[in-house]
Amino acid sequence: MTLQQTGSPHQFPTGSDAFPHRHLLGIAGLQPWEILFLLEEAKQWVDLNKKSSKHADRLDGLTVINAFFENSTRTLLSFEIAGKRMGADVVNMHAAQSSIKKGETLIDTAVTLNAMKADAIVIRHGSSGAVQLIADKVDCPVLNAGDGSHEHPTQALLDALTIQRRKGDISGLTVTICGDVMHSRVARSNIYCLTTLGAKVRVCGPPSLLPAALDRFNVEIFTNFDEALAGSDVVMMLRLQNERMNGDFIPSPREYHYLYGLTRERLALAKDDALVMHPGPMNRGVEIDSDVADDLNHSAITEQVEMGVAVRMACLDILTRKSRGVEGWS
Ligand code: CP
Repeated sequence: MTLQQTGSPHQFPTGSDAFPHRHLLGIAGLQPWEILFLLEEAKQWVDLNKKSSKHADRLDGLTVINAFFENSTRTLLSFEIAGKRMGADVVNMHAAQSSIKKGETLIDTAVTLNAMKADAIVIRHGSSGAVQLIADKVDCPVLNAGDGSHEHPTQALLDALTIQRRKGDISGLTVTICGDVMHSRVARSNIYCLTTLGAKVRVCGPPSLLPAALDRFNVEIFTNFDEALAGSDVVMMLRLQNERMNGDFIPSPREYHYLYGLTRERLALAKDDALVMHPGPMNRGVEIDSDVADDLNHSAITEQVEMGVAVRMACLDILTRKSRGVEGWS
């Protein structure tokens, strides 16, 4: 396999061998060099996004459909901005205003979107596996913007890019992910991403919010947050996903905060320069205190949002290279 030289310490296979996938449905199964390639490609867009004029013509003439069957602020807007900054026509479909409300099936919706000749479809759906179902029915690349409790791959990529920028090489870092792991697609994608890149991942939460299958992942499991924090380079907090809970998983938000909330006192148990992350939206005063979330010496939460646009630009660019006839992308 030929390797391409880049300005980064990493080398990647050339052309489409660098990322030989038609869709981005999850992080599971990606090779470390494929993840690193996506992150490396995103860096050029970080630079562009800081300029006063942010336009590139990479996706001129292409149509991107964002089909969101669940609410979103960050993911929807950043995919829209990403497509528009690269010159694509971007159309947003919100389930609440669509014919889904009239009883149209997911597969009929997918076939309808396909007939409109989109060049990429970005999908968020409340059911795990729904995005795969749509990907099997359409002719263009599909990007998973979060499906149920399954995966949220671009979130994990933007988190990895943020960590790389703040900490350098991810390999060898200790990353603690704390909260509602059971219902979190962010946790799942991050566990795949960070362990593939060589981080030591600790997963922490109340036993009721830790999935039984967690012991199949290459992670250390904690139920005591103070113990998990000791020596952590990165602390990634998760939202309690009340909308996915069927019944009570915690005694009360107050008790949850007492045991698992990231307070300034608790953060002091991690390394002095520990990075604090949260995918948003945050429940301030429940899983994270405001003085920690807003402490720019530790918190990378707004940088995560910034990296989201760059990562999504890179993903749209790479997945449409074949249809655009980019040399080496057959
Ligand atoms: N992190 C995340 O997916 O946020 P949104 O739900 O606002 O898109």
